[in-house]
Amino acid sequence: MLISVLTASDRCSRNICEDKSGPLISQMLCGTAKTVGYTVVPDEKEIIEKELIRFCDELHSDIVFTTGGTGFAPRDVTPEATKAVIEREAPGIPEAIRAFSMTKTPKAMLSRATAGIRGKTLIINLPGSPKAVKESLEVVMPVLQHAIETMSGCTISCGANAK
Ligand code: MTE
Repeated sequence: MLISVLTASDRCSRNICEDKSGPLISQMLCGTAKTVGYTVVPDEKEIIEKELIRFCDELHSDIVFTTGGTGFAPRDVTPEATKAVIEREAPGIPEAIRAFSMTKTPKAMLSRATAGIRGKTLIINLPGSPKAVKESLEVVMPVLQHAIETMSGCTISCGANAK
């Protein structure tokens, strides 16, 4: 599994603070995934879009994770950038993440995170804090391999070992 990670943060992009969330995503998936792309960008819609397209179309990532910029702050634009580059939405993913996250904190409802497919790449928005990244990734990790298989047209294992 090839993954790329985009951290959207004005502060981290200016080196005012260290990006802990992006590296945490790679670390949590290091047993099953190779990180082929990583970038820290400011909360600018056009820059985020450009990097998402690069990770999908040039680096051929199976999954692109974003972290940050999903909230209500005026400069939070990661969902808008994601929606601009995806071809098909995958609403079940943010639904599942928010449902589980609500058992951790009611503030989970303040994330506007989205997910969707561009070509054969799945883009998943995660919130910005390392705590939220950990809680959200735990939800999606069990389905990532199957998501990749179905995106590539392989449905043989669909339903097998279904729980
Ligand atoms: N989801 C989980 N699982 N755990 C959390 O601590 N924090 C919330 C929410 N989602 C949180 C969470 C908070 S406080 C905010 S403001 C939103 O994510 C948006 O975060 P972002 O703007 O950093 O993307």
